[in-house]
Amino acid sequence: MTSENTADGEGLLEFVRTFADRDTFTVEEDLGHGYVRLKVTEAERRQALQDIRCVEDVVKELVRNARDADARNIYVTFQKEKGRWRNLTVLDDGRGIPQALHRKIFEARVTSKVEDVVADRFGVHGRGMALYSIKQVAEDIQLVCSQEGHGTIIHTRIDTSNIPEKKDQSTFPRLEKDEDGRVSIAGGPRNVPRVLTEFALGSDKLNIFLGSNAEILATLYHDSVELRKSWAAGEDDVSRPMWFELGNIKEGRILHGFCESQLGLHVSERNAFRILELEINPLMSINELLNEGGVVLPARRADLHRQPRISWSDHLARRLSQDDISRISDSLQEICEEIGSRYYLQAETPVIKRRKNRLIISLGLHEREDD
Ligand SMILES: Nc1ncnc2c1ncn2[C@@H]1O[C@H](COP(=O)(O)OP(=O)(O)OP(=O)(O)O)[C@@H](O)[C@H]1O
Ligand SMILES: [Mg+2]
Repeated sequence: MTSENTADGEGLLEFVRTFADRDTFTVEEDLGHGYVRLKVTEAERRQALQDIRCVEDVVKELVRNARDADARNIYVTFQKEKGRWRNLTVLDDGRGIPQALHRKIFEARVTSKVEDVVADRFGVHGRGMALYSIKQVAEDIQLVCSQEGHGTIIHTRIDTSNIPEKKDQSTFPRLEKDEDGRVSIAGGPRNVPRVLTEFALGSDKLNIFLGSNAEILATLYHDSVELRKSWAAGEDDVSRPMWFELGNIKEGRILHGFCESQLGLHVSERNAFRILELEINPLMSINELLNEGGVVLPARRADLHRQPRISWSDHLARRLSQDDISRISDSLQEICEEIGSRYYLQAETPVIKRRKNRLIISLGLHEREDD
């Protein structure tokens, strides 16, 4: 269907004509749901393809799309495979993409941004070229799922021997404050943490998270538990993102399966179990990190790790950190060593499990072998 065929399309076309250079930028097709296919010159198309030169560019475009969709929370999983393939997933709780457009968004010049071709600190966008361009250069890009009003999850896999990335992906940029207290970037590697810092500085309404699959799942799980509490309390305006059901899961195997099938994230069953046991803690957002003193020192990704908080769990045993459990285990082993010698017994290293309000200690015994 061409834009001239619908009343809506005519309106859009008319609107675009008011600001666009007719030779380079007009609507070719009205795709419905507020989406159009733009007409652009070949030169512009080539320029857009060149825009994706490195992994940092991919992250920038995917996060920019999530931000443009009015997401409040954006989660970026960032995981390297065999030192070569970069897997990354961007999950957002923005406005989502209508079902009818799920495949079309990867085609050239398809955009919903006709009415707001915008220039942000990264330059002009709204040409409907970013996803198409990433698709040309990435090993894979998939829309894992998207629902109107519930957000979007996009996964991509990049061969870093073709599309490189900065070596250092741990250091956040150095920041400086001007006289008015405004924070800006003063230097540091042009890596993914820096791209995300730019977004975080650009909006105080946006929470941006960066971590491994397991760290992000732990964060989503925790956020879902909190959302579900607000929802159960009958609060208004509780969003129901794609990970809303996570907080209801109590078993590692099921968490692992849900994560793989619904969120497109691979997290081992073991790590899913550790998330439920709060051995992998939720991350703080980059915005929170910046507010917490990243301004003085260049922060590192490890600084995004939180200390466990008592309020995270109703289960008392979960309050104990793994380090303190190890201390209990060491002391126990020492005592058993001493007592066991009187009975000709040798104790194995104690295995301590945290279950609700209880520590379950298992201590294997053997006949002591004479020295
Ligand atoms: N995370 C998202 N949430 C909602 N809609 C999205 C998301 N990502 C992409 N889209 C939709 O897909 C369209 C195409 O995205 P794409 O990045 O290719 O082009 P664009 O953002 O319109 O322009 P540009 O080429 O400058 O990035 C967007 O206009 C938007 O409607
Ligand atoms: Mg875009």
